[in-house]
Amino acid sequence: MNGNPNSGCRITAIYGSPRLEGNTATLLRRAVEGARDQGAAVEEIFLRDLKMSPCLEIYGCKHDGECAIKDDFQQVRNVILAADGIMLASPIFFYSVSAQVKILMDRFQSQWVKKHWIEGQPMGQSLATRKGLFLSAGATRGRKLFDGALLSVKYFFDVLDTELWDYRLYRQLDFADDIQRHPEYLAEAFQTGAALARVIQAITPSD
Ligand SMILES: Cc1cc2nc3c(=O)[nH]c(=O)nc-3n(C[C@H](O)[C@H](O)[C@H](O)COP(=O)(O)O)c2cc1C
Repeated sequence: MNGNPNSGCRITAIYGSPRLEGNTATLLRRAVEGARDQGAAVEEIFLRDLKMSPCLEIYGCKHDGECAIKDDFQQVRNVILAADGIMLASPIFFYSVSAQVKILMDRFQSQWVKKHWIEGQPMGQSLATRKGLFLSAGATRGRKLFDGALLSVKYFFDVLDTELWDYRLYRQLDFADDIQRHPEYLAEAFQTGAALARVIQAITPSD
């Protein structure tokens, strides 16, 4: 442990792949280790283990910003909104994020409604109080492989008042253990997780 465990820095790590031992999960685990090495308190969320309905677009949230569908979303939302930083990992599925991640994003439409419809916050005004890291992997080499996912993540992070502080995108990873052939990617994930924790600690007043 190099960092200060009492730094008060809280990070939520969101595993978005259905594979718990796949490429992005392995990368995120390393990033989590890096952040913890700096003394960050990291809470891990494994989306595939949660019961979370897709958004039903009923706008039950328009009264108070509370999603009308009661399932695991409420607990996940509270954990994410209590954190100072977010690490999100998703594989590329059809040039976007996984279904698990997309469901989470869409359920946060209730937060978007709270901010913009209920509290009247103007759109396009960034009030980022959190820092976010996005990790992703895809099988192919295409130049635009991550474009769709990056746009989704950027606007998702906006809703969470989170700056897309950094992202690490890895091509040509397909089978679950392909990442093991790239210790340099894993080392980079560890370093990036540690750097995220340091950046947050530098701007977060300690308790
Ligand atoms: C449903 C599905 C859709 C996919 N779509 C793409 C794609 O559009 N482009 C691509 O390069 N790889 C695609 N892949 C491959 C995954 O991105 C790749 O295997 C990745 O390494 C998986 O990450 P994970 O091990 O963290 O789940 C797809 C895989 C699945 C299962």
